[in-house]
Amino acid sequence: MAMILTRNSIETAPFLQEMIETTTNLYRHGWDERNGGNISYLLNQYEVIPYLDVTKVIRTIPMNFDASALAGKYFIVTGSGKYFKNVKQDPASNLGVIRISEDGRSYEILWGFENGGVATSELPTHLMNHMTRLSVDKNHRVIMHCHATNLIAMSFTHILKEEEFTKTLWEMCTECLVVFPEGVGIIPWIVPGTNEIGEATAEKMEHVRLVLWPHHGIFGAGNTMDETFGLIETAEKAAEVYTIVCAQGGKKQTISDEQLQALAEAFKVVPRPGILNI
Ligand code: 13P
Ligand code: ZN
Repeated sequence: MAMILTRNSIETAPFLQEMIETTTNLYRHGWDERNGGNISYLLNQYEVIPYLDVTKVIRTIPMNFDASALAGKYFIVTGSGKYFKNVKQDPASNLGVIRISEDGRSYEILWGFENGGVATSELPTHLMNHMTRLSVDKNHRVIMHCHATNLIAMSFTHILKEEEFTKTLWEMCTECLVVFPEGVGIIPWIVPGTNEIGEATAEKMEHVRLVLWPHHGIFGAGNTMDETFGLIETAEKAAEVYTIVCAQGGKKQTISDEQLQALAEAFKVVPRPGILNI
Protein backbone atom coordinates (compact mmCIF):
# COMPACT_ATOMS: atom_id res chain seq x y z
CA MET A 1 0.00 0.00 0.00
CA ALA A 2 1.43 3.42 -1.00
CA MET A 3 2.15 5.69 1.92
CA ILE A 4 0.48 9.07 1.69
CA LEU A 5 2.55 11.82 3.21
CA THR A 6 0.59 14.89 4.20
CA ARG A 7 2.43 18.20 4.29
CA ASN A 8 1.54 21.34 6.12
CA SER A 9 0.78 24.45 4.07
CA ILE A 10 3.98 26.46 3.67
CA GLU A 11 1.97 29.60 4.50
CA THR A 12 2.05 28.35 8.12
CA ALA A 13 5.84 27.81 8.20
CA PRO A 14 7.54 29.92 10.93
CA PHE A 15 10.35 30.90 8.53
CA LEU A 16 7.81 32.22 5.99
CA GLN A 17 5.99 34.17 8.71
CA GLU A 18 9.31 35.69 9.83
CA MET A 19 10.07 36.79 6.25
CA ILE A 20 6.62 38.37 5.92
CA GLU A 21 6.89 40.19 9.25
CA THR A 22 10.41 41.46 8.57
CA THR A 23 9.82 42.68 5.01
CA THR A 24 6.64 44.40 6.23
CA ASN A 25 8.50 46.09 9.11
CA LEU A 26 11.35 47.21 6.84
CA TYR A 27 8.81 48.68 4.42
CA ARG A 28 6.98 50.40 7.29
CA HIS A 29 10.24 52.13 8.28
CA GLY A 30 10.62 53.50 4.74
CA TRP A 31 13.88 51.64 4.17
CA ASP A 32 12.63 49.56 1.21
CA GLU A 33 10.95 51.75 -1.35
CA ARG A 34 9.83 50.04 -4.58
CA ASN A 35 11.96 46.86 -4.93
CA GLY A 36 14.71 48.18 -2.62
CA GLY A 37 16.26 45.70 -0.20
CA ASN A 38 16.62 41.95 -0.03
CA ILE A 39 16.85 39.20 2.62
CA SER A 40 18.20 35.66 2.61
CA TYR A 41 17.61 33.26 5.52
CA LEU A 42 19.51 29.98 5.85
CA LEU A 43 17.13 27.11 6.65
CA ASN A 44 17.79 23.66 8.02
CA GLN A 45 16.45 20.82 5.89
CA TYR A 46 14.34 19.63 8.84
CA GLU A 47 12.58 23.00 8.88
CA VAL A 48 11.70 22.73 5.18
CA ILE A 49 10.66 19.04 4.96
CA PRO A 50 7.31 19.41 6.80
CA TYR A 51 6.18 21.90 4.13
CA LEU A 52 7.90 20.97 0.86
CA ASP A 53 8.78 17.94 -1.22
CA VAL A 54 12.47 18.74 -1.60
CA THR A 55 12.85 16.19 -4.43
CA LYS A 56 10.67 18.38 -6.68
CA VAL A 57 12.77 21.10 -8.32
CA ILE A 58 10.61 23.68 -10.13
CA ARG A 59 13.42 25.47 -12.00
CA THR A 60 17.23 25.64 -11.91
CA ILE A 61 18.90 29.04 -12.28
CA PRO A 62 22.63 29.34 -13.13
CA MET A 63 25.00 31.56 -11.09
CA ASN A 64 28.31 32.94 -12.35
CA PHE A 65 30.27 32.50 -9.13
CA ASP A 66 31.33 29.58 -6.98
CA ALA A 67 28.95 28.88 -4.09
CA SER A 68 30.08 25.26 -3.61
CA ALA A 69 30.80 25.97 0.09
CA LEU A 70 26.99 26.23 0.41
CA ALA A 71 26.14 23.15 -1.73
CA GLY A 72 22.88 21.53 -0.64
CA LYS A 73 21.97 24.41 1.69
CA TYR A 74 18.42 25.81 1.74
CA PHE A 75 17.48 29.49 1.87
CA ILE A 76 14.30 31.51 1.75
CA VAL A 77 15.10 34.62 -0.31
CA THR A 78 13.30 37.73 -1.54
CA GLY A 79 12.76 37.99 -5.30
CA SER A 80 14.51 40.33 -7.71
CA GLY A 81 12.42 43.38 -8.60
CA LYS A 82 9.83 42.46 -5.96
CA TYR A 83 8.35 45.04 -3.58
CA PHE A 84 8.57 44.44 0.19
CA LYS A 85 5.23 46.27 0.36
CA ASN A 86 3.61 43.32 -1.46
CA VAL A 87 5.20 40.32 0.31
CA LYS A 88 2.41 39.88 2.86
CA GLN A 89 -0.41 39.77 0.29
CA ASP A 90 1.43 37.46 -2.14
CA PRO A 91 4.38 35.59 -0.60
CA ALA A 92 4.55 32.97 -3.40
CA SER A 93 5.33 35.61 -6.05
CA ASN A 94 7.69 37.72 -3.96
CA LEU A 95 9.66 35.05 -2.07
CA GLY A 96 11.25 31.71 -2.94
CA VAL A 97 12.79 28.71 -1.23
CA ILE A 98 15.99 27.71 -3.00
CA ARG A 99 18.71 25.06 -2.63
CA ILE A 100 22.29 25.55 -3.82
CA SER A 101 23.28 22.86 -6.36
CA GLU A 102 26.01 20.31 -5.67
CA ASP A 103 28.55 22.09 -7.91
CA GLY A 104 27.67 25.52 -6.41
CA ARG A 105 27.06 26.98 -9.86
CA SER A 106 23.26 27.19 -9.78
CA TYR A 107 20.31 27.27 -7.42
CA GLU A 108 17.17 25.15 -7.52
CA ILE A 109 13.79 26.76 -6.89
CA LEU A 110 11.69 24.49 -4.63
CA TRP A 111 8.86 26.91 -3.90
CA GLY A 112 7.74 30.45 -4.81
CA PHE A 113 9.05 32.92 -7.40
CA GLU A 114 5.78 32.28 -9.25
CA ASN A 115 5.33 33.66 -12.77
CA GLY A 116 9.01 33.36 -13.70
CA GLY A 117 10.54 35.26 -10.76
CA VAL A 118 14.12 34.76 -9.60
CA ALA A 119 16.14 35.44 -6.45
CA THR A 120 17.40 38.95 -5.65
CA SER A 121 20.00 40.47 -7.97
CA GLU A 122 22.19 40.78 -4.86
CA LEU A 123 22.40 36.98 -4.49
CA PRO A 124 26.21 37.05 -5.09
CA THR A 125 26.66 39.37 -2.07
CA HIS A 126 24.18 37.37 0.03
CA LEU A 127 25.78 33.99 -0.65
CA MET A 128 29.35 35.29 -0.34
CA ASN A 129 28.40 36.93 2.98
CA HIS A 130 26.80 33.68 4.20
CA MET A 131 30.00 31.81 3.36
CA THR A 132 32.16 34.32 5.24
CA ARG A 133 29.90 34.62 8.28
CA LEU A 134 29.50 30.81 8.57
CA SER A 135 33.30 30.50 8.56
CA VAL A 136 33.49 32.76 11.66
CA ASP A 137 30.16 31.90 13.35
CA LYS A 138 28.51 28.49 12.98
CA ASN A 139 25.17 29.90 14.24
CA HIS A 140 24.99 32.55 11.51
CA ARG A 141 21.76 32.46 9.39
CA VAL A 142 20.54 35.84 8.11
CA ILE A 143 21.78 38.42 5.58
CA MET A 144 19.65 41.57 5.24
CA HIS A 145 20.02 44.55 2.92
CA CYS A 146 17.96 47.74 3.01
CA HIS A 147 18.11 51.39 2.00
CA ALA A 148 18.21 52.83 5.53
CA THR A 149 17.60 56.55 5.00
CA ASN A 150 19.88 58.24 7.52
CA LEU A 151 22.81 55.86 6.99
CA ILE A 152 22.64 56.66 3.26
CA ALA A 153 22.48 60.38 4.08
CA MET A 154 25.52 60.07 6.36
CA SER A 155 27.47 58.50 3.50
CA PHE A 156 27.30 61.94 1.80
CA THR A 157 28.13 64.12 4.79
CA HIS A 158 30.44 62.06 7.03
CA ILE A 159 34.01 60.94 6.42
CA LEU A 160 33.90 57.39 5.06
CA LYS A 161 36.69 56.07 7.26
CA GLU A 162 35.40 53.04 9.18
CA GLU A 163 36.90 54.07 12.53
CA GLU A 164 35.52 57.61 12.38
CA PHE A 165 32.11 56.55 11.06
CA THR A 166 31.82 53.88 13.76
CA LYS A 167 32.88 56.29 16.51
CA THR A 168 30.18 58.79 15.46
CA LEU A 169 27.50 56.07 15.59
CA TRP A 170 28.73 54.83 18.99
CA GLU A 171 28.43 58.39 20.34
CA MET A 172 24.88 58.93 19.08
CA CYS A 173 23.13 56.28 21.23
CA THR A 174 24.62 54.63 24.31
CA GLU A 175 23.49 51.15 23.21
CA CYS A 176 25.43 51.21 19.90
CA LEU A 177 28.82 50.13 21.25
CA VAL A 178 27.16 47.21 23.02
CA VAL A 179 25.21 46.13 19.90
CA PHE A 180 28.06 46.46 17.37
CA PRO A 181 31.40 46.63 19.24
CA GLU A 182 33.25 45.45 16.11
CA GLY A 183 32.02 48.57 14.28
CA VAL A 184 30.84 49.16 10.73
CA GLY A 185 32.65 48.12 7.55
CA ILE A 186 32.58 50.48 4.55
CA ILE A 187 33.32 49.54 0.95
CA PRO A 188 33.90 51.93 -1.97
CA TRP A 189 30.99 52.71 -4.30
CA ILE A 190 30.64 49.70 -6.65
CA VAL A 191 27.92 48.76 -9.17
CA PRO A 192 25.28 46.72 -7.27
CA GLY A 193 24.36 43.18 -8.23
CA THR A 194 27.94 42.33 -9.25
CA ASN A 195 30.33 39.68 -7.99
CA GLU A 196 32.77 42.52 -7.32
CA ILE A 197 30.51 44.22 -4.75
CA GLY A 198 29.79 40.80 -3.23
CA GLU A 199 33.50 40.04 -2.81
CA ALA A 200 34.24 43.47 -1.29
CA THR A 201 31.32 43.14 1.16
CA ALA A 202 32.15 39.55 2.15
CA GLU A 203 35.76 40.53 2.84
CA LYS A 204 34.50 43.06 5.40
CA MET A 205 32.02 40.55 6.87
CA GLU A 206 34.90 38.51 8.23
CA HIS A 207 35.29 41.13 10.98
CA VAL A 208 31.96 43.01 11.14
CA ARG A 209 28.21 42.31 10.85
CA LEU A 210 27.33 45.67 9.32
CA VAL A 211 28.67 46.89 5.98
CA LEU A 212 27.77 50.29 4.52
CA TRP A 213 27.39 50.63 0.77
CA PRO A 214 27.95 54.39 0.33
CA HIS A 215 25.08 56.25 -1.38
CA HIS A 216 23.08 52.99 -1.51
CA GLY A 217 22.33 51.23 1.79
CA ILE A 218 23.42 48.82 4.47
CA PHE A 219 24.02 45.06 4.79
CA GLY A 220 23.54 43.32 8.13
CA ALA A 221 24.27 39.77 9.27
CA GLY A 222 23.02 37.79 12.25
CA ASN A 223 21.95 34.52 13.81
CA THR A 224 18.24 35.33 13.82
CA MET A 225 15.89 37.57 11.87
CA ASP A 226 15.14 39.65 15.00
CA GLU A 227 18.81 40.13 15.84
CA THR A 228 19.72 41.18 12.29
CA PHE A 229 16.78 43.56 12.02
CA GLY A 230 17.67 44.97 15.46
CA LEU A 231 21.28 45.49 14.42
CA ILE A 232 20.30 47.54 11.37
CA GLU A 233 17.60 49.35 13.35
CA THR A 234 20.16 50.37 16.02
CA ALA A 235 22.71 51.70 13.50
CA GLU A 236 20.00 53.53 11.56
CA LYS A 237 18.60 55.06 14.79
CA ALA A 238 22.10 56.39 15.61
CA ALA A 239 22.35 57.81 12.08
CA GLU A 240 18.96 59.47 12.55
CA VAL A 241 20.14 61.05 15.81
CA TYR A 242 23.26 62.24 13.95
CA THR A 243 21.03 63.86 11.30
CA ILE A 244 19.08 65.67 14.02
CA VAL A 245 22.21 66.68 15.95
CA CYS A 246 23.64 68.23 12.76
CA ALA A 247 20.32 69.96 12.05
CA GLN A 248 20.31 71.35 15.61
CA GLY A 249 23.72 72.90 15.02
CA GLY A 250 26.14 70.12 15.99
CA LYS A 251 27.45 68.56 19.22
CA LYS A 252 28.03 70.69 22.32
CA GLN A 253 28.94 67.61 24.39
CA THR A 254 29.18 63.86 23.82
CA ILE A 255 29.91 60.48 25.43
CA SER A 256 33.64 60.53 26.19
CA ASP A 257 36.06 57.78 25.20
CA GLU A 258 36.47 56.95 28.91
CA GLN A 259 32.69 56.56 29.24
CA LEU A 260 32.55 54.36 26.12
CA GLN A 261 35.33 52.21 27.59
CA ALA A 262 33.46 51.93 30.90
CA LEU A 263 30.35 50.91 28.94
CA ALA A 264 32.29 48.19 27.10
CA GLU A 265 33.65 46.84 30.38
CA ALA A 266 30.22 46.86 32.03
CA PHE A 267 28.66 44.95 29.12
CA LYS A 268 31.71 42.73 28.56
CA VAL A 269 32.28 43.65 24.92
CA VAL A 270 35.58 44.45 23.24
CA PRO A 271 35.50 47.70 21.23
CA ARG A 272 37.20 47.57 17.84
CA PRO A 273 40.83 48.62 18.40
CA GLY A 274 41.97 51.97 17.05
CA ILE A 275 38.76 53.89 17.80
CA LEU A 276 38.87 54.88 21.48
CA ASN A 277 41.76 57.06 22.63
CA ILE A 278 42.33 55.61 26.08
P1 13P B 1 16.45 43.27 -5.99
O1 13P B 1 15.05 43.73 -6.29
O2 13P B 1 17.07 42.52 -7.14
O3 13P B 1 16.52 42.51 -4.67
O4 13P B 1 17.37 44.57 -5.82
C1 13P B 1 17.04 45.54 -4.87
C2 13P B 1 18.23 46.24 -4.33
O5 13P B 1 18.13 46.83 -3.27
C3 13P B 1 19.50 46.22 -5.08
O6 13P B 1 20.57 46.64 -4.29
ZN1 ZN C 1 19.89 48.01 -2.65
